[in-house]
Amino acid sequence: MADRSASQAVRPIENVLVTGGAGFVGSHVAWLLCRLGFRVTVVDNLSTGHRAAVPPSAAFALADLRQTEAVDKLFARGRYDAIMHFVARTLVGESNSQPIDYIRDNVGTLCNVLRAAVDHGAQAFILSSTASIFDSRDGSDIDEDQVVSPGNPYGESKLMCEKILFWAERSHGIRTAILRYFNAAGAHFAGDLGEDHRPETHLIPLVLEVALGRRPHIDIFGEDYPTPDGTCVRDYVHVLDLAAAHVKALVALRDGGGLKYNVGSGKGYSVRQVIEIAEQVTGRGIATVTRPRRAGDPASLVANSRKLQCELGWRPLHSDLRTIIRSAWAWHSRHPNGFDASDLASPANAAAAR
Ligand SMILES: NC(=O)c1ccc[n+]([C@@H]2O[C@H](COP(=O)([O-])OP(=O)(O)OC[C@H]3O[C@@H](n4cnc5c(N)ncnc54)[C@H](O)[C@@H]3O)[C@@H](O)[C@H]2O)c1
Repeated sequence: MADRSASQAVRPIENVLVTGGAGFVGSHVAWLLCRLGFRVTVVDNLSTGHRAAVPPSAAFALADLRQTEAVDKLFARGRYDAIMHFVARTLVGESNSQPIDYIRDNVGTLCNVLRAAVDHGAQAFILSSTASIFDSRDGSDIDEDQVVSPGNPYGESKLMCEKILFWAERSHGIRTAILRYFNAAGAHFAGDLGEDHRPETHLIPLVLEVALGRRPHIDIFGEDYPTPDGTCVRDYVHVLDLAAAHVKALVALRDGGGLKYNVGSGKGYSVRQVIEIAEQVTGRGIATVTRPRRAGDPASLVANSRKLQCELGWRPLHSDLRTIIRSAWAWHSRHPNGFDASDLASPANAAAAR
């Protein structure tokens, strides 16, 4: 790590740039930062995000971070003490069919923003990484020392980003934190901020779309895995717990960088269990269709987040599956059209005001 990171006093962190802050995870983090009194700028090209998800008290810049001129303009206009980088193309299946584009876009946007952050003296940089860097492994206690071995170009692109951060910190002293999320899920408890991916590929919103009658059934890919009920087991972490982990990391970066944490609840739930709890929470039947296994799906992926808990005092307070599904159901049933709904004229932000 460079000298600055080890010894120099850091300025208080007041101005935070949230890239991809119109997306699912970024908007919840931006909301929390605003509530805590940070001055937040969200930058997003709205390719998968929603303008209505951005907290009203955050500044918003519409820009495509693949373009260096756009990034230069952004940094010329504002001073940012810290960057939280959520921007990415995130569809694993699409990354398999477009590996070059995925790696170019995910690594390219990271390099553009990191370059500008270093040039403009930003002190801290937090990267959204993913359990997909462990993708070809099967595990129920995955800690930070697990061997990384991405099973798809999306995971590979994130691993490349992690490595770039390492070298940037070592050579330029910018303090970095990497948060490797397992499955982000749930919604803000106020009910006006939630998940609206298009296309949606995540299990919980898909299951709830069936409950809402917007989808005829949910596909279960494989019921013959070596798990208790034969379906895949995953770790779901509430998006507000994820948001809290970002704030903890931001505060910890005042004391030094090189942080790397797996972020999950530490509990695994099978696809069948998710469906069962969703049926209980919604009071509706959820039809299923069993399909063959998908290539590359490990039987079980569950985080060990003890390092984050011990070092930063983080706790997965809301990541009980029933709490996750209740909050997601509140969002989906209130806003079945996501952020398109006319009742979102004043977006996410009944929530932001609270
Ligand atoms: N959702 C999860 O379960 C999960 C799990 C692990 C890691 N992650 C990571 O967390 C981050 C956020 O995920 P999410 O689920 O909120 O995704 P998302 O698609 O909702 O958010 C990504 C945001 O980035 C914006 N964006 C994309 N390309 C851009 C570009 N070139 N310029 C400007 N803006 C651009 C999109 O419009 C969107 O608002 C991603 O980096 C993802 O890899 C997510």
